[in-house]
Amino acid sequence: MPEIQILQNIFEISRVAAEKFILIGNKAIKQNGKFTVALAGGSTPKSLYRLLTTENFKNRINWSRVFFFFGDERNVLPDNEKSNFRMANENLFKPLQISENQIFRWQTEIEDAEKIAEDYEETIKEFFGLKDKPPITVAGSDNKFPRFDLILLGMGNDGHTASLFPFTNRLQECEKIAVANWVEKLKTKRLTLTFPVLNNAANVMFLVSGAEKAATLREVLEGEFQSDKFPSQNVILKNGNLMWLIDEKAAQFPAK
Ligand code: 6PG
Repeated sequence: MPEIQILQNIFEISRVAAEKFILIGNKAIKQNGKFTVALAGGSTPKSLYRLLTTENFKNRINWSRVFFFFGDERNVLPDNEKSNFRMANENLFKPLQISENQIFRWQTEIEDAEKIAEDYEETIKEFFGLKDKPPITVAGSDNKFPRFDLILLGMGNDGHTASLFPFTNRLQECEKIAVANWVEKLKTKRLTLTFPVLNNAANVMFLVSGAEKAATLREVLEGEFQSDKFPSQNVILKNGNLMWLIDEKAAQFPAK
């Protein structure tokens, strides 16, 4: 069962998320010598990223052992204001002086979105040692896919997560790690990790804030299973810990 926490507001969501980030990160570094995290884009995680650079948090983890990836990206250059990389770079990487060789971003300078996705898939396979590895399933996790220690996700008003939008082709993708996904309503190809990757993670943390998401969130968490209409419903971890950090406005009922 997913862990659902209803918190006062986005600042409380960010504080609890930062504590969990540090906890999960230190455990991974202790166990495997490194912490692999896929960051979310959009606006909701920005205050979490900033909080991690403050006195309360920045000295509580060995940042040189943290390896950053992105759950999805907009097909724009890395200095574009819409870039998820740019948002994380300005609010997390630069303030903490994270070295470039710990940051694995979608190479959006490449013209062709399919090529960007192929490249990112190869980068991830290389990093996780998945290249030319015979696929086996152990203890519920599938070694055809990377097992991130933590994946941060948001949810759009329409129920999308990462860049897996309602009724788009790549919702059913079950072979690839990273894909380009055509989103008709945005008239663009978004770049996104696939559900097998999200569901192979050790920990997934949704950060959801704002009244405009309440109706969809209720459908996603309590409604009928409509995986094409509400893609966030497809995040069902094989062998991991799923957490929803929601604020009162998005949950539409008072905090406990
Ligand atoms: C993106 C995100 C996307 C985001 C949701 C919520 O690139 O846009 O990764 O999945 O998490 O759209 O966005 P907000 O946090 O801005 O509401």
